[in-house]
Amino acid sequence: MNPFTFGNPIKDPARFYGRREDLRQIVNRLRSSAHESTSIVGERRIGKTSLLKYLDTPEVAAQLGLPPAEYCMVYIDFQGLTDITPERFWQRVLRKMERSICLPELLPEIQALREMGAFDLFDLEDLFESIAGRGLTTVLMLDEFEYVTQNPNFGSDFFGGLRALAIHQNLPLLTATRRELVDLCHSEELKGSPFFNIFANIVLRPFSRAEVLEMLDGKIILDHPDSEPIQNASSPWLTTMGSTELLLDEKQIVQANFYWVLGIAFLYH
Ligand SMILES: Nc1ncnc2c1ncn2[C@@H]1O[C@H](COP(=O)(O)OP(=O)(O)O)[C@@H](O)[C@H]1O
Ligand SMILES: [Mg+2]
Repeated sequence: MNPFTFGNPIKDPARFYGRREDLRQIVNRLRSSAHESTSIVGERRIGKTSLLKYLDTPEVAAQLGLPPAEYCMVYIDFQGLTDITPERFWQRVLRKMERSICLPELLPEIQALREMGAFDLFDLEDLFESIAGRGLTTVLMLDEFEYVTQNPNFGSDFFGGLRALAIHQNLPLLTATRRELVDLCHSEELKGSPFFNIFANIVLRPFSRAEVLEMLDGKIILDHPDSEPIQNASSPWLTTMGSTELLLDEKQIVQANFYWVLGIAFLYH
């Protein structure tokens, strides 16, 4: 069976490789006394969603030093949500929090707030204060966050509020975007917002040679030690594609090579 699948983000932690230094930095910042936020930046298909999903796995998070009794990981994907509003943003966050296994005793409070419909920053502050009061840090993982920063429905007041919650109410953020957040604002005014200085940037890079080898180790018999996925630092996606190519029989290699070149052209155009 082909152990390499490509297309969808990695959901099974057993299929997740590398990224140890990035994870270490993200976790250290979350575990610091200020519970600091991180902005994960990287090209399409470099592995942003896979990284967030990895952190969204309770056993993995616990192993990395974020036990569910202390850190509640809440993953939200904004892909395609072009007409989202701040109200719907918070509705989505609260609904995701209700489903999260680490917050059962806080369920009534979260539900009550969500059902109120129109709530303001004070209500959210109260909620996150009572969550923090129980020794829990909620980590908001906001995937494809450009759908929010580029949307004019979200003004400086929204980002000011989110910043206040992140800093003062124990609500660190992990955002994933294709470019740096300041370069993804819908207005110049927003660009100057202090919201963006709560983040440290982590730029996801193509896999190092060591990471590629780690990913390939034991999965395939390497008849081609000089093959491209090993020779060149490669995105995990390209490594997957390249590995699939190595698993194919000779007749299919031409076709796989075609996709490989397409992939490179696509990633580095
Ligand atoms: N850490 C990883 N280990 C193994 N494969 C990965 C990893 N990160 C990404 N991939 C591969 O790359 C593809 C694209 O990853 P994804 O997380 O969807 O990227 P992004 O969210 O940046 O667009 C996935 O389908 C998967 O095959
Ligand atoms: Mg993604």
